[in-house]
Amino acid sequence: MSALTAVRGFKDILPEEIGPWSLIEGKARDLAGRFGFKEIRVPVLERTELFARGIGDATDIVEKEMYTLEDRGGDRITLRPEATAGIARAVIEHSLLASARTSRLFSIGPMFRYERPQKGRLRQFHQLDCEIFGDPGPWADAEVISLLWSLLSELVIPGLTLAVNTLGCPRCRPGYREKLVRFLSGEKDRLCPDCLRRLDRNPMRVLDCKNPGCRELALAAPRISDSVCPECGEHFDGVLKALSSLGLSPELDPLMVRGLDYYARTAFEVLSGGLGAQNAVAGGGRYDGLLAALGGPDLPGIGFAAGLERLTLLLPPQSPAPGPDYYLAPLCPEALEPLFRLAGDLRSRGLSVVADWESGSLKSRLKKADRSAARRIVMVGGDELKGGYALVRDMTTKEQARASLEDLKPLAGPDGTVEGPVPATPGPPNPASDGTQNDDRDHLAAPVL
Ligand code: HAM
Repeated sequence: MSALTAVRGFKDILPEEIGPWSLIEGKARDLAGRFGFKEIRVPVLERTELFARGIGDATDIVEKEMYTLEDRGGDRITLRPEATAGIARAVIEHSLLASARTSRLFSIGPMFRYERPQKGRLRQFHQLDCEIFGDPGPWADAEVISLLWSLLSELVIPGLTLAVNTLGCPRCRPGYREKLVRFLSGEKDRLCPDCLRRLDRNPMRVLDCKNPGCRELALAAPRISDSVCPECGEHFDGVLKALSSLGLSPELDPLMVRGLDYYARTAFEVLSGGLGAQNAVAGGGRYDGLLAALGGPDLPGIGFAAGLERLTLLLPPQSPAPGPDYYLAPLCPEALEPLFRLAGDLRSRGLSVVADWESGSLKSRLKKADRSAARRIVMVGGDELKGGYALVRDMTTKEQARASLEDLKPLAGPDGTVEGPVPATPGPPNPASDGTQNDDRDHLAAPVL
């Protein structure tokens, strides 16, 4: 029978790969806390209508990329392609703003989009999502951008660019849209088939099409920044001023429109030179009409999402995670129980212990202990049991000492700190053979304490 594999675009994150994930998630949680954000966890499945109404029917995400199915009860449900709509739904459903419980939320979790998998692009990927609800002013925009930038700085990710744009609001955008459609309609023969379709449904998406012909046209097209109303202009100036007070001077990108329709006013992205085609590390913006569009209060919102897979690709090399404090190696069946008890004692003192409860030669034990990267190995075999002691080997110094089995308990100090290899009595360099499994330990020619 052939072995089953994961679904295309869905990736296992293996134990040896988890380090960067823990680092990023830990830093994100810490930083979000410092900015006053509280964690929220929302379901990965939502009603399809939430995304159709929230992200917009005419977006690539809703048109082509969602995993949608009908459940057994006949409801149309979708695996979330992003987190903002679900978080906004939860804010409305639980009246989080009315009760003033919180207006700053973050979430970390998997998203699902049916895209063509490639480096940095998966069908199940993970996002850190940060949202501020209810604050209309430019300071909130600058604050979420600053949170994102602080995270990237603390993770020491090199080669990043912050790009911003304003997308206008429902008052000024229709006028711009009209101008843009007029311009593009005169150049239809230069548009790619996708953009010809977009011309009717979502003309602003033509501006960030990657096709070279469309790109050329986009560069010559009218700019939204020349068409925004005075309020949107003032808001954008405010954001730039606030960012500048933090020492941030983003690039202005008039062609950045973002792929979700809920945005109004500020839009931003962080791009990396080190990711190839999938160069967006994070993106976000203001979505002042989203809560109302989902049937909630007419309150504004601003936030961003960062792609965790892409961050892990960009993280500088990390030193490996430290191994356990102890590796316990019972060398004969009679040693199992005392070492099993010792494992419990050490763990209850806050120390990390791995043990091998299968029998095996000393050589194979040492190999495993070495692979576990434990700081110390405790070995007990027939000789040791008879003599009432254990052999404790410090894997850093390679020193080896005898410790009385009774004394092994206080290996850890009362505060959980690890003491040096215990009240040790010098052991014989080569323990006498008594025919037990201990015979092959001669090669432990480490200096004895
Ligand atoms: P987005 O730009 O669609 O925005 O996604 C944000 C980030 O998720 C991207 O910059 C990228 O790093 C990552 N990402 C997106 N698709 C994939 C994929 N297929 N594979 C790997 N990574 C991916 C949003 O999702 C908005 N909800 C952001 C937001 C929050 N706006 C306001 N609040």
